[in-house]
Amino acid sequence: MRLDKYLSLAQIGTRKKVKEYIYRGDVRVNGDVICIPAFDVNPSKDKIMYQEKEMSNIEKVCYMFYKPQGCITAKQDENCRTVFDYLTDIDTTGLFAVGRLDKNTEGLLLITNDGELNHLLMNPEHHVEKTYYFWVFGRIDAEEIRRIETGMDIGDGEITIPAKIKVLTTGKYSVLREQMRQEGCYAVKRNLHREEVSSGYLTIFEGKKHQVKRMMKRLGCHVVYLKRVSIGRVVLDETLGKGGYKRIDERCF
Ligand code: URA
Repeated sequence: MRLDKYLSLAQIGTRKKVKEYIYRGDVRVNGDVICIPAFDVNPSKDKIMYQEKEMSNIEKVCYMFYKPQGCITAKQDENCRTVFDYLTDIDTTGLFAVGRLDKNTEGLLLITNDGELNHLLMNPEHHVEKTYYFWVFGRIDAEEIRRIETGMDIGDGEITIPAKIKVLTTGKYSVLREQMRQEGCYAVKRNLHREEVSSGYLTIFEGKKHQVKRMMKRLGCHVVYLKRVSIGRVVLDETLGKGGYKRIDERCF
């Protein structure tokens, strides 16, 4: 990890401030003064000192956050409530969200100060599975399932790696609309009574931008509800309630 990134995660200052400290010669790695912000460090092996303070043993924390619809994955925003606006009981310095969820997507979001954990979960080469519960307008039959399970073109030259899908419900909107409403489906327009809708679980092994929505769109389906229910072995604790959070042990991963 970059030295400046590590030190800002270690909460000694913003990335900009940290660069100043590094250029000033206030930072040593294994006894040597290092003046290069991009210098590569391994915090579990290298002895990193800022002035006379050892920075290698910062407590790593991770929180499970149940993101509600309507809030954005950002530190602050002038118009919208952000994920960090919900974290009122904890010191959020140095914390960041692992990846992002769209404004209207809800569910599991991890918040941490651990760059290594972030790398472990986000690096596309690690193929960490993420499962989403969805409702769409449209029908998912054998051909759509085949395309999902073999990998599909989602535009802009991007091909997904094979994913997994389990369809739970297929039926008419007029029959299922009460269930959809109760589960929090959004942007359902009128005059769709004769349309078919489907729900289910989709598991992807990467995290391309708007990936689930883009996959569904290519299949002719329109997402009206999306909730991330798990990342790797970590499963959303529904008892938290929307907007709730709790600290979790990193050994969960
Ligand atoms: N895929 C999406 O389309 N949106 C999300 O928020 C997450 C995955």
